[in-house]
Amino acid sequence: MASGNRAVRCSRRDDPMSTSAAPRPLQQVLALGDAFIPELPNYYRGKVRENYDLPDGRRILISTDRLSAFDRAIAAIPLKGQVLTQTARWWFEATADICPNHVLDYPDPNVVIGKRLDILPVEIIVRGYLAGTTGTSILTLYKQGAREMYGMRFSDGLRDNEALPQAVITPTSKAFDGGHDEPLSAAGIVETGLLTQAQWDEVSGYALALFARGQALAADRGLILADTKYEFGADADGRILLADEIHTPDSSRYWFGESYPGRFERGEKPESFDKDFVRNWVVSRCDPYREELPPIPPELISQTSDVYVRAYETITGQVFVPPPAGEPPLERIRRNLARYFERGREADHVSSSR
Ligand SMILES: Nc1ncnc2c1ncn2[C@@H]1O[C@H](COP(=O)(O)OP(=O)(O)O)[C@@H](O)[C@H]1O
Ligand SMILES: [Mg+2]
Repeated sequence: MASGNRAVRCSRRDDPMSTSAAPRPLQQVLALGDAFIPELPNYYRGKVRENYDLPDGRRILISTDRLSAFDRAIAAIPLKGQVLTQTARWWFEATADICPNHVLDYPDPNVVIGKRLDILPVEIIVRGYLAGTTGTSILTLYKQGAREMYGMRFSDGLRDNEALPQAVITPTSKAFDGGHDEPLSAAGIVETGLLTQAQWDEVSGYALALFARGQALAADRGLILADTKYEFGADADGRILLADEIHTPDSSRYWFGESYPGRFERGEKPESFDKDFVRNWVVSRCDPYREELPPIPPELISQTSDVYVRAYETITGQVFVPPPAGEPPLERIRRNLARYFERGREADHVSSSR
């Protein structure tokens, strides 16, 4: 199987035939931990993506391979950035008839050029199941006894990971500067002026329709889209578009449809793409919020890479096309973005000479 080849590829750099004087595992060479490009303007380093705003209203979003957890990047997983970009691409294309999105171009497997938007200050999380592990997830809150959540009433007697009678939106405040997300309600969002009623109506309509499409297409692939997060933004004319990413393994919870019913009946956790073993390995060895992280074993990194690639192939039904071996991804990205350096410089020059 294709992912098996990748595992081999990932360890080939350990091969004594390697010409490098100090051989390092291939994943260290090929992973894209950072994508700082000094020739591009208006840099913003996100948890996972490097962002550049061009003066003409476009935004370059480069997906790195960073695995983010415990408010930090804990590892670089080869191919993860490409998987995220390509998974989102597949979904943007599969949902463009439902909701306009920010996409303008894909100049590189890890890069999307989007229309720069004013991101609405609410994260639109849609949930089809009583699930989740974070403090804002409805399962966590429900188990603490909450029945009134996000301005909605949940019935008694629901079980872990049970399907909800209908998908719900559990919006949270978008923490713009490293703060933590807080639960909101539709009424609260409008009352406090985070969104107008019209914006909320539009965004919630889009989100539920996108989620319904997501669940239907996932089901065709034997998957359950349990929940996901959307970010919307407004353009200069106030038109609302879908921004950021859509239905990626990072923004969504996918379960395997075949094993779900049995596992649910037995009270077991649904089966999913297991991307958490690096996280679990780290937690079992240190307090990641306070201590330095121990070096993560290369085999855990390459297994995680395989899981991401498998997720891409399962979700989209497409064969993953790996980049040519050996070329550092940042070099390739720089080459594919070179035309934007020119424009960025020209435009900077124009604006600074004004
Ligand atoms: N079209 C867009 N216009 C402006 N900002 C966007 C657009 N699409 C996504 N963003 C923002 O770009 C950033 C993407 O990088 P990411 O690593 O997700 O950062 P973060 O750590 O802030 O979530 C996010 O802050 C997201 O809100
Ligand atoms: Mg983000």
